Amino acid sequence: MIDIRILDGEEARQRIPELALILKDCVNKGASVSFMNPFSLAEAVGFFTEIAEAVSRSEVVLFAAIEDGRAIATVQLQPVWKPNQPHRADVAKMLVHSAHRNQGLAQKLLDTVDAEAKRRGMTLLTLDTMSDSAAERLYLRAGYIKAGIIPNFALWPDGGLGDTSFFYKEIL
Ligand SMILES: CC(C)(COP(=O)(O)OP(=O)(O)OC[C@H]1O[C@@H](n2cnc3c(N)ncnc32)[C@H](O)[C@@H]1OP(=O)(O)O)[C@@H](O)C(=O)NCCC(=O)NCCS
Repeated sequence: MIDIRILDGEEARQRIPELALILKDCVNKGASVSFMNPFSLAEAVGFFTEIAEAVSRSEVVLFAAIEDGRAIATVQLQPVWKPNQPHRADVAKMLVHSAHRNQGLAQKLLDTVDAEAKRRGMTLLTLDTMSDSAAERLYLRAGYIKAGIIPNFALWPDGGLGDTSFFYKEIL
């Protein structure tokens, strides 16, 4: 049984070790999500420590999929701070542990993100991801529209530049 839920600041702090393991697994297995290899557990803990603090400041909405008491996947909704974009949020750091992929977990997380964005009165979600990837297929399936591609935008974690696709989704 998998429970998908929003973590408050305290639960986010408690689950830093689990979330860090997911991030480390994804980067070590080749996901381009800001970090380069070699990527340590300590670095992943540092990242999620900052995210837990951002959750406490209400700057980030942190979602997790919990199985048998442990987080196995996560994603973030980052409402835009700019006063002229109260209707928009970025979707970021969609991470599913490699042992739990291809079961629709990411799709379930995105469904929950949509529902929460709608509940908050948001009407526009934006994100970017490496082109020609499993993530790109996921976002297209989930109804995101590809606005365009920037070539050589980011490095893969083991080196080499890759193109990045920019997506948006209107929540109606
Ligand atoms: C991209 C990522 C989030 C997808 O997570 P996921 O939970 O495996 O995604 P889903 O299960 O919803 O979909 C993955 C595939 O499984 C398929 N699938 C979904 N449910 C399924 C089921 N019940 N049975 C069989 N296949 C299924 C989907 O159709 C999809 O197929 P595709 O690879 O041909 O497109 C995951 O691969 C990941 O974490 N990658 C590393 C981090 C990353 O790159 N994140 C993106 C940052 S923007």
